[in-house]
Amino acid sequence: MTDFAIRVKGLSKSYGQQTVVNDITFDVRRGEVFALLGPNGAGKTTTVEILEGHRKRDKGNVEVLGYDPINAEKQFREQIGIVLQGTGVEPQLKVGETVEMFRGYYPDPFPLEEVLDVVGLTSERNKLVRQLSGGQQRRLDVGVALAGNPQLLFLDEPTTGFDPSARRDAWDMISNLRLMGRTVVLTTHYMDEAEHLADHIALMSKGSILSYGTVAEIIARQSGTVLGFKLEDAKTVLPKNFSDAATIKGNKVTMRTNAPIPLLYNLTSWALDNDQNLDDLRVEKPTLEDVYLDIVRSSTEKDAKL
Ligand SMILES: Nc1ncnc2c1ncn2[C@@H]1O[C@H](COP(=O)(O)OP(=O)(O)O)[C@@H](O)[C@H]1O
Ligand SMILES: [Mg+2]
Repeated sequence: MTDFAIRVKGLSKSYGQQTVVNDITFDVRRGEVFALLGPNGAGKTTTVEILEGHRKRDKGNVEVLGYDPINAEKQFREQIGIVLQGTGVEPQLKVGETVEMFRGYYPDPFPLEEVLDVVGLTSERNKLVRQLSGGQQRRLDVGVALAGNPQLLFLDEPTTGFDPSARRDAWDMISNLRLMGRTVVLTTHYMDEAEHLADHIALMSKGSILSYGTVAEIIARQSGTVLGFKLEDAKTVLPKNFSDAATIKGNKVTMRTNAPIPLLYNLTSWALDNDQNLDDLRVEKPTLEDVYLDIVRSSTEKDAKL
């Protein structure tokens, strides 16, 4: 058995003239949580659907649990669990019955109690599906995907539209899957979600993987120091040498620099002279969010120039 659940090499996919997945290469290790992180339209769903065997690729090699997903062999289908952006479970069935029904389709299903435990629905077992909250229904979707005892789970945007507490519950569930030794591939456009859950992240934009690694590796690859603060009045005009280097959103100012000391000196001098407080002043290494915004922005700018 190889160490890899998934190997992808030179994968491309176009719809008509539009290339939506452009020569991407990555591996997913067995037992890890892997996140495809990127904005809407990046090509995340297309990529996972190719891995699931639900879409045809144009080019490249894809190996999932040792199978080529396009052949959709029975043994392959039995070893993967899929949670689509929306699934159709029967609203009039009870939670326990629903999982039970899906368990019936597989030769070696996961015990019902354990499924309910992992997805946090033990006390909802006898509730009707339609009585569940949105977050609980989404976790039931995962329970259904888990029913067949798969080695590998695909979760496409597992928490989009969740309130903060439902997200935390979903995150706990995904951590449980990892503790059980399952491999999880998730897509998300939430940086904190990828940061919290994933062992490795592929940062995707416009069909390309722009950075890959652990959070620390992705951040380390990006040079510079981030300097940020809030203006009391969003209309305050910054001196030109600052504003050229800054990203300004409302009253929030962020700068990236390779020479933080002179910048800080000039900035604090300007602040003293102009009676500015520089609220929430921070000087730090970039966060995943800074890197993500940088990378996605520069890929979009490159595009605009073409
Ligand atoms: N079946 C399809 N036919 C044509 N274009 C599609 C189809 N599915 C997705 N696309 C386009 O491909 C691009 C990538 O979409 P998708 O893979 O869904 O991205 P993501 O999941 O990252 O939001 C988008 O521009 C989308 O409009
Ligand atoms: Mg998508």
